Amino acid sequence: MGIAFNESTKEFHLYNGQISYLMKVMRNGQMGQLYFGKRIPQKDNYDYLTENVMRPTTSYVYENEYSFSLEHLKQEYPSYGTTDYRMPAVEVLQKNGSRITDFTYVSHKIYAGKPQLKGLPATWTKEDSEADTLEILLRDELLGLEMTLLYTIFNGENAIARSVRFENSGKEEVQLTTAMSLSLDLPDSNYEWMQLSGAWGRERHVKERMLQQGIQSVGSLRGASSQHQNPFVALKRPAADEFQGEVLGFSLVYSGNFLAQAEVDTFDVTRMMIGIHPSYFSWCLKPGESFQTPEAVMVYSCDGLNGMSQTFHRLYRTRLARGYWSERERPILLNNWEATYFDFDEEKLLEIAKTAKEHGVELFVLDDGWFGSRTSDWSGLGDWWANTDRLPDGIKGLSEKVEALGLKFGLWVELEMANKDSELYRNHPDWIIQTPGRRASHGRQQYVLDFSRKEVVDYIHGLIVKILRESKISYIKWDMNRFITECYSAAFAPEQQGEIFHRYILGVYDLYERLTSEFPEILFESCASGGGRFDPGLLYYAPQCWTSDDTDAVERLKIQYGTSYVYPLSSMGAHVSITPNHQVGRLTPIKMRGDVACFGAFGYELDLAKLTDAERETVKEQIRFVKKYRKLIHSGTFYRLQSPFAHNISAWMVVSEDKKQAIVGYYRVLNEANAPYRRVYLHGLEEACAYRVERNGRDAGVYYGSELMNVGMVMTDLPRKQPEETHEGLGQELDSFTDFWSEILVLQAED
Ligand code: DGJ
Repeated sequence: MGIAFNESTKEFHLYNGQISYLMKVMRNGQMGQLYFGKRIPQKDNYDYLTENVMRPTTSYVYENEYSFSLEHLKQEYPSYGTTDYRMPAVEVLQKNGSRITDFTYVSHKIYAGKPQLKGLPATWTKEDSEADTLEILLRDELLGLEMTLLYTIFNGENAIARSVRFENSGKEEVQLTTAMSLSLDLPDSNYEWMQLSGAWGRERHVKERMLQQGIQSVGSLRGASSQHQNPFVALKRPAADEFQGEVLGFSLVYSGNFLAQAEVDTFDVTRMMIGIHPSYFSWCLKPGESFQTPEAVMVYSCDGLNGMSQTFHRLYRTRLARGYWSERERPILLNNWEATYFDFDEEKLLEIAKTAKEHGVELFVLDDGWFGSRTSDWSGLGDWWANTDRLPDGIKGLSEKVEALGLKFGLWVELEMANKDSELYRNHPDWIIQTPGRRASHGRQQYVLDFSRKEVVDYIHGLIVKILRESKISYIKWDMNRFITECYSAAFAPEQQGEIFHRYILGVYDLYERLTSEFPEILFESCASGGGRFDPGLLYYAPQCWTSDDTDAVERLKIQYGTSYVYPLSSMGAHVSITPNHQVGRLTPIKMRGDVACFGAFGYELDLAKLTDAERETVKEQIRFVKKYRKLIHSGTFYRLQSPFAHNISAWMVVSEDKKQAIVGYYRVLNEANAPYRRVYLHGLEEACAYRVERNGRDAGVYYGSELMNVGMVMTDLPRKQPEETHEGLGQELDSFTDFWSEILVLQAED
């Protein structure tokens, strides 16, 4: 693997065993794009990939010459206004009002390893030998503005990380008004666009459509990545599916406003981009200052969507998530939110925790309502000290009592917010984000603190650090329950107001960075009204994220299935909650709730004392199962087998790295009379290996990997009830004579 530069043709070739990425310095000194895809050989010359076609109504760069127009050349990081009329990756507003730029090649550096991005989350390497990096320095001579394109190709992964750094080495101040993280001109448009869209309670549903001429995009202007659109897009060949065919995945390591866009021109060239949303963004660059864009990761797969996801999973689980917990087994937690909401005192909490411990739970999490005057969502946010009416010995006392029960203790916080009814707001009314002279809109009676200001972040840091230092806290759930409106900061000049959305996120990252380095063994779980900030940016600091407030097992099938396109199972907070379910009112068996949640970072969101004896036995069994298999589930290779978006029956599976074990989740939402024959076709197994299969804990025989993958596991004949449990009626002898049926298959290689 490596990065080759051909001095005579000025071509760069980034390659490893699987992929190639080719670009070159074009005749005008700017960077041109040649190829991204499956590995091709390193050659002396790729000139044939520069297609200069003379076309009517075209504008050309050089006088009296009809062969060089940026409109018709595939570029690496394009700007608008000099013969290219498509959307630009970079736009710079200059003192004289012009936005024309001309960034031309100056030099490049190639080195082993990967640089970190200051103040920003990014993928990383443990050893320099894991990746190679190319930095290409370009300069706009008129402005003295420098731009460095950064590329890291990972050894053994079909992935390239990209970002861009700007440095003003000129004499005049400029405003960056567009600075995308990645732009990629593809030679055709024969792709289906796939996005993950939703809303509160139905995050990351899969939406697909063919690319069309014109612009198609998803984005967020909410100040957070949001439940509505995820900072991810895949372009897949129409014939590709989960298991085969070409797919390109684009993912942005960022938690704020973003845009992911494909522009297909009238010659069917596709320009794909992802980065900070240019609307409401600008950044003043004074002489001597620099700006670093967030990182984007692009993945190439010729093994379909599962192939793409598996690359994202490996990379994001092991080389994006950081620290003590990234690859450790996650504790099984019980969170009190749906059990009590705001209605609790210490005695009630300890009762819930004690019952949890008796069932095998490892971590008790106290959610919202423990601080300041917070007994409803009208007050208290910002006042991060314990409410001693409810918790007489504070968080310190409660955490010690929970630890004395043999459990670890975790705490909920929402550090970026304030209620007007709080000490914080009464003392610092100017610390919330609001525009002078305008009404400040609220969300859930709360206001967003101006995290673009260091003194605000410092104040919150001081309060939370005190609690973390004096108490026994093993886990923090960091929530964020409203989006930004009337974005403006009292601390910045008028011409810097376009920076506030980004500065806000930098403030969030700064606080995460401080807390995770001061308390490296605390497990952080991010949350934003469920999955409103389920993005790679926060995964860098918090290796798991509360996937959705919707805990219904049927709804969760879609949410977790959609989330799995980018994010590893270890990152998906997934809890069993009570029925009737609090979000949709549905009654599902505790078995199915557990069978869905165990394909995530597992836990409970209920008071176990409220369950029947039989349900409590199931809970104990679930906990035993998760403890035994969580390592495999979180670090194994995940395959989506059948989609809940398209079928009543859905399935997924994980296979251990050595292929000796596998776990399959098989879910049937509604029962069917006289149902068709059913098989599930497994993947990723060793063809010649014999596996003993257990279905819901019962032995179901021994099968070769090749049988399970090619013949399929026959699911028509479901396990039977004991004769004494059988009732009258066709099919009633089956365990599965019910809606909301699920099975867990455990495969173990025979010696
Ligand atoms: C929203 C979260 O998603 C919930 O899990 C819970 O923590 C509430 N906030 C508490 O206000």
